[in-house]
Amino acid sequence: MDTHRDTRLTVKPLTPTIGAEIVGIDLRENLDHATFEAIRTAWHDHAVIVVRGQELGEDDQIRLGERFGEIGHIFNPHKGKHPGLMFVSNIREDGKPIGVLPDGEMQFHSDQCYTEFPPAGTMLYGIEVPSTGGDTLFANMYAAYDTLPADVQARIETLRGVHYYDPLGEYIVQKGPISPNAMRWAHPVVHRHPITGRKALYVNRLMTYEIEGMTADEAEPLLNLLFDHQEQPHFVYQHVWRPGDVVLWDNRCTLHARTDFSTEERRLLRRITIQREIVA
Ligand code: SIN
Repeated sequence: MDTHRDTRLTVKPLTPTIGAEIVGIDLRENLDHATFEAIRTAWHDHAVIVVRGQELGEDDQIRLGERFGEIGHIFNPHKGKHPGLMFVSNIREDGKPIGVLPDGEMQFHSDQCYTEFPPAGTMLYGIEVPSTGGDTLFANMYAAYDTLPADVQARIETLRGVHYYDPLGEYIVQKGPISPNAMRWAHPVVHRHPITGRKALYVNRLMTYEIEGMTADEAEPLLNLLFDHQEQPHFVYQHVWRPGDVVLWDNRCTLHARTDFSTEERRLLRRITIQREIVA
């Protein structure tokens, strides 16, 4: 546990490898530089930060996100007040979900890895949550990379994974055939974090279909080895949501997944992405 001398906040690790809860702050406040930088440092050190018991309006969430960098505006099918705001929700109006990623389990993935410039981070704010399930799991990809056998690290050092996502498809639990609508981008399998300089494993079971220059028969066993390795429980923090939770994850060094939950219960989270981190 780390209590900061110049601020009121305390950073409490949630597991030995990933996640920290920050206590002693109200995120609606205009946080002074030292306090904000202590939060940013906790984010870089723990990859996922959690602040409970917050009352964040839309403007508060945007203002907070802007302290970290530029807010992402793409992929917003909803008309929140700010173009960067969207909802993750299973609530339906006139039969249509009011948010994205409405129902059920999701496999491990990294946000928008199928685009040229995936966001640095994603922030969710819990508004309504099911009584059980719908937890979000986060896995530490620095630890996953660091613990790979040296021969595997050497083998993947210069490889590029090809990531796909079909915005019109339903493939959130397992891969489907690659559709002509799918968006696609290739990124290095070993990603160096631009701020911490650490290497992270950058493939995921949901969206990484191929490795450039390899046949499917060559790529499949290697990808399966990496997927099985990176999802081990000792790399993972499981967040059980409460209303008022703010969770910010670093998309450059984590994967996330979601557990199943009842379709009878409402789930509503407000989401923004930090497209590009800007360190003041
Ligand atoms: C997401 O993948 O952005 C949503 C995660 C969740 O619904 O828990």
